[in-house]
Amino acid sequence: MNLDDIYREEILEHNQSPRNYGHLEHPTESAGLLNPTCGDQIKLELIIKEGRIEDICFSGQGCSISMASASMLTEAIKGKTVDEALTLVSNFKAFLAGGTSNVPLGDLEALHGVSQFPSRVKCATLAHNVLEKAIAEYKPEQ
Ligand code: FES
Repeated sequence: MNLDDIYREEILEHNQSPRNYGHLEHPTESAGLLNPTCGDQIKLELIIKEGRIEDICFSGQGCSISMASASMLTEAIKGKTVDEALTLVSNFKAFLAGGTSNVPLGDLEALHGVSQFPSRVKCATLAHNVLEKAIAEYKPEQ
């Protein structure tokens, strides 16, 4: 497989029409991270209420893999609990490491070809790392 082969239709489509791109008016959580290998940055804004992700947006810029992956991630976890979102992230990372996922990954499965290119795995997991950071900072309401 060469690098061009990883750009499946779903990746190109999410890159062209990213879901949930932009900003939320009143996010309860937000976090951002740089990909140290290229300097690209993705930020997530979330509304989490009673442990459930009610809304999520992403912003920033990066390569088509990172943007498509962020778009797919936001679509996959909107409406899920934080625990379900973290399970999805860990399964996606295991999937990119050559394993299988125990939960449905939706369009994220289209990123499977990336697993053979370690630098591209960093692109594909950038938004996922941001999500883990945002959830780590989340303090459930009393
Ligand atoms: Fe920067 Fe992919 S090259 S995130």
